[in-house]
Amino acid sequence: MDIQQMNQNDQIKSVVETFIQKFWKENQELYRRKIVHEINDHQLAKLSTIEIPAKGRSVETVMNEMIEDIYKYRYYANHPRYLGFVPGPASLLSWLGDIMTSAYNLHAGSWINCPAASCIEQKLIHWFCNLTGYGEESGGTFVSGGSIANMTALIAARDKILSEDQLSLGVAYVSDQTHSSVTKGLRMIGIPNSRIRQIPTDSSFRMDPSQLELAIQSDYSNGLIPFVVIASAGTTNTGSIDPLEAISAICQTYHLWMHVDGAYGASILLTKQYKHLLKGIEYSDSISWDAHKWLFQTYGCSMILIKNKKNLLNSFSTHPEYLNDLEIENDSMNTWDMGIELTRPARGLKLWLTMQVLGCNVLSTAIEHGFQLAQWAEEELKKEKDVEIISPAQLAIVTFRYAPCNITEKQKDQLNQNISKKMLENGYAGIFTTELNGKKVLRICSIHPDTTKSDIIHIVSLLNHYCKDLCEEI
Ligand SMILES: Cc1ncc(COP(=O)(O)O)c(C=O)c1O
Repeated sequence: MDIQQMNQNDQIKSVVETFIQKFWKENQELYRRKIVHEINDHQLAKLSTIEIPAKGRSVETVMNEMIEDIYKYRYYANHPRYLGFVPGPASLLSWLGDIMTSAYNLHAGSWINCPAASCIEQKLIHWFCNLTGYGEESGGTFVSGGSIANMTALIAARDKILSEDQLSLGVAYVSDQTHSSVTKGLRMIGIPNSRIRQIPTDSSFRMDPSQLELAIQSDYSNGLIPFVVIASAGTTNTGSIDPLEAISAICQTYHLWMHVDGAYGASILLTKQYKHLLKGIEYSDSISWDAHKWLFQTYGCSMILIKNKKNLLNSFSTHPEYLNDLEIENDSMNTWDMGIELTRPARGLKLWLTMQVLGCNVLSTAIEHGFQLAQWAEEELKKEKDVEIISPAQLAIVTFRYAPCNITEKQKDQLNQNISKKMLENGYAGIFTTELNGKKVLRICSIHPDTTKSDIIHIVSLLNHYCKDLCEEI
């Protein structure tokens, strides 16, 4: 092949069509498939023998090889019975939007490069800010995920509250249920573990505001400077929502930045039935919101929203000479002035496509369905005498533990781990474990719009069955 043939136009056109047919078929069969396709040592060994060739190969061969030997081996996180972690139930509309965005390959860091796409992304950001209850000065940008959204907010908080000579004194407050990306982000921006306070949670796994206030007072009296509190709008473990109004009152009293990690739960603001659960979120200074979770987008699509966009500009705006030609008067039009990335894809366009086609009412119903699924799961689980509900259905999460009375706590931990393993071996559903109150528990996170009540009933009956089988072996 010579360089004139690098784009292989005709060949690529035909393989794109083949790919779409294959992907379509796989997607239609998804419901009947197992939730995991395990890889074996033989397959891994085969992959590791493939070298980068000096002379290229046919695109059709390589594409087919990749479909068969690479993409096939995975957990199907968009499967209706994949109920682990926070699943990724991406809509086909998002997939289409993703393909379109990649096809046009927009450089969405600056307004001049793609003014129409930038306008649409900003319109979406403002729509979500409005939904949150933020005012005219708000703004934000699309980023790759909740981890980056959290870190972006923490940088803005640090730069707003702490002067340069106070950087070594700043203290941040999380709860014992806050997502690990927050403490990771804090460490990356120069806040060591010794200045990250983990506030205990109550019996519903919500941050205890009185403990928060005591911790802030104690840090002040030790000469430290509290600067940010991170509240969760839907924790990963249990779907708990921290008491947002009480936390915001504390932040206002002590002049701290309040960040809400809504990577998982902020999407409930789109629902008619459940948006009231986030009352108080409007008082926060910033919010992380993953569209690749409960807004049904492909990875990575997340938003950082901020009450006053000047605070993002303060931290991220730069004006190097080689970008002068793309400068415009209003910094906030160039997303590279609002976050970490310079070059970035127009991540918001697939969300735009999804929302334009589905409309808000369908999205609201789809999100409410997740709540209903978790409630059905809880009802089914309660019928089984050996099940303890550890946290009742909140958002779309329920946690529980098989705890027959004739075995030790250690054996119960092992039992629940083995139940999860058995379910994965069977492949019917993805149910994983977490730890709460020092115990191993099982967890269901049900945000897929195609999961049905009968799926849930069957899954619980399988879990019960595995428990009985495993208990006989103890
Ligand atoms: C509450 C919460 N925050 C942050 C994150 C991190 O988001 P991401 O994986 O998109 O970086 C997650 C991921 O599950 C989450 O559940």
